[in-house]
Amino acid sequence: MYAKFHSIGAYVPSTVLSNADLEKMVDTSDEWILKRTGIRERRIARDDEVTSDMAKIASEIAIKRAGLNHSDIDLIVCATVTPDYFNMPSTACVIADKLGIKDVQAFDISAACSGFVYALSVAKAFIESGMKRHVLIIGAEKFSSIVDYTDRSTCILFGDGAGASVISATNDKSEAIIDIHASADGAYSDFLVTPAPGSVNPLSQRVLDEGLNFVQMKGNETFKLAVKTLTKDVKEILSDNNIDAKDIPHFVPHQANYRIIKAVGGALKMTKEQVVLTVDKYGNTSAASIPMAINDIYEAGRLKKGELMLLDTFGGGLTWASALLPFSGDNL
Ligand code: COA
Repeated sequence: MYAKFHSIGAYVPSTVLSNADLEKMVDTSDEWILKRTGIRERRIARDDEVTSDMAKIASEIAIKRAGLNHSDIDLIVCATVTPDYFNMPSTACVIADKLGIKDVQAFDISAACSGFVYALSVAKAFIESGMKRHVLIIGAEKFSSIVDYTDRSTCILFGDGAGASVISATNDKSEAIIDIHASADGAYSDFLVTPAPGSVNPLSQRVLDEGLNFVQMKGNETFKLAVKTLTKDVKEILSDNNIDAKDIPHFVPHQANYRIIKAVGGALKMTKEQVVLTVDKYGNTSAASIPMAINDIYEAGRLKKGELMLLDTFGGGLTWASALLPFSGDNL
C-alpha cells in the first residue's frame, strides 16, 4: 500500500495587515520589511475566528476536492503551534467536531513551521502500515495570537491562515509520495520560543507583565541556520532519489523570508518559474505556509496531476523536513 497526496485546500483570512499598517504600530518601514523579508502584507484572522475555524474551512475544501465524504476520513492530524487551547482538547478534536466527523482518531503535532511536512510523514506511515485509508492533515495557525505587536523584530513576519490535504491509500506506485526526510535538533530550542504558558512558566502575573506569552526569536541566527540546513536537506533528498533539481516543476519552500528562499533556490540552480512564492502576500504562516502555497498554485491552474513537488521547511524546535512527491489529485 502507498500513500498519495490526494487533494489540497486552504483558507486565507480577509483582513490584510500591510507594511504601511505596521509603520503606524512600530518603528519600521515598508522599505526595510520588503528588502529584508520580501513581505508586503499578511492576513490576520478576526477576533472571533480561531485556528480550528480556519482549519475547518480548508479541510472542507480538501475533502471535497478529494471526492470524499467527511465520514471517509479515518485520521485527523493537525499541525499547529497556535492551538485553540494550549493543553486540551487538541485542535484536531475540535476540527473533527466542527466537520461533524465522529469516531475518528484525531491529534495535534507540534513542530512549528515544519508541522505540515511532519504531519505528511505521519499520514504516510499510517497508510503504508495499512492502519488508515484517508488521513486529513492540516497546518493551521492564528499566529497573531502569540505575536507582540510592539516588537518590530517579530510582528512584521507572521500571518494567519490554514491549509489542508487528504492523504489517501493507493496501489498505484506512480501516484505515491516518494520520500520524506524529517529531523530536529533541540540544542537550538532557544532560537524560536514562546516561553509561556507551559510547565516551565505556568500562567501568572509575571508571565503577562514580561510578555512571556509572545513568540521570541533569534532572527539572525535562525536565518543563517535555515539557509544552511534547508539547502543541505533538499540536496540530500534529491540525490537519495536520483532526481535532478531541474526536473522539479514545483519547489515549495517554507515561506519565512524571500532571502532564505532565494538562497536555497539559487543553491539548487532553480529558475524563478520553479520556485513557489507567497511570502509577499501572506508572510510566515508557520505550519500553514506550505499547504497555503500549494493551494495557491493549484487554484492558479499551475499544479497539474502527476507533477512533482519538492517541499522544504524549517522551524522552531529546531525542526526541518523535506518531501518529494507527485501531486495526485484531480484538477477540478
Ligand atoms: N524595522 C526596522 N529595523 C529593524 C526591524 C524592523 N522591523 N527589525 C529589526 N530591525 C533592525 C535591528 O534592530 C537591527 O538594528 P541595529 O543594527 O541597529 O541593531 C537591524 O535591523 C538588523 O537586525 P537583524 O536582526 O540583524 O536583521 P536581519 O537582516 O537578520 O533581518 C529578520 C531580520 C528577522 C528579517 C531575519 O533575521 C529573518 O528573517 N530571520 C529568520 C526568520 C525565520 O525564518 N523565522 C522563522 C523560521 S520558521
